[in-house]
Amino acid sequence: MSHVSQASVTTPDGEPTPLVPTTYGEVKGWFSAYDQVLFDWFLTRQNSGEGQPGDLLELGAFMGKSAIFLGRYLRPGEEFTVCDLFDSPATDDFNVAENRSSYPTLTRRGFETNYLAFHEALPTLIQAPTSVVADRVKPTSCRFVHVDASHLYEHVVTDIASSQLVATPDAVVVFDDYRSEHCPGVAAAVWTAVVTGGLHPICVSASKLYA
Ligand SMILES: C[S@@+](CC[C@H](N)C(=O)[O-])C[C@H]1O[C@@H](n2cnc3c(N)ncnc32)[C@H](O)[C@@H]1O
Repeated sequence: MSHVSQASVTTPDGEPTPLVPTTYGEVKGWFSAYDQVLFDWFLTRQNSGEGQPGDLLELGAFMGKSAIFLGRYLRPGEEFTVCDLFDSPATDDFNVAENRSSYPTLTRRGFETNYLAFHEALPTLIQAPTSVVADRVKPTSCRFVHVDASHLYEHVVTDIASSQLVATPDAVVVFDDYRSEHCPGVAAAVWTAVVTGGLHPICVSASKLYA
């Protein structure tokens, strides 16, 4: 994954202050136009008619590109939870190295600045490893889950298990980078869950598997 810098200006006292984006296109991230169409298709369908009740969840937000998009589909009474380490350290060396090389400039303040440029209120933020999600999010509560945090095998296995606990039976769960050459662990974890019956694939894009 190539490194993307957080847009910021430096104040006279030397503090980097995130720039407020004026268009969605200015928000840095990895969320293709193709996947935006697919997210819109699933979420509009869930929201149409009598609607499919449930909350929204994202594991791995970076600067908010996909979270800002997801937040548009939140209905009254529902909760949108976003889990990311942001500027906190990871708990294992491999995850520390992964984050240092891919997201060295990420800050929670950058995410919040971007999100609040497009929405009136922040989602519920969990600034912690995604392994806490199963304890912090209500069981069988989420109708849509976007899994895009650590791309290391052990972490994705945990994220799949957490997703299965918090998802409603008819939820859509989306996995990023399920076939990218730089992170074979995602493919190994996702396809194992498919083969053992935990996940039922619906469709795939170049970067994401929808199940
Ligand atoms: C690929 S980026 C997310 C991209 C974002 N969804 C987008 O569309 O632009 C992955 C994010 O996962 C976070 N992350 C990495 N390891 C994590 C962990 N163990 N727990 C929580 N978040 C983690 C990183 O801080 C980073 O923000």
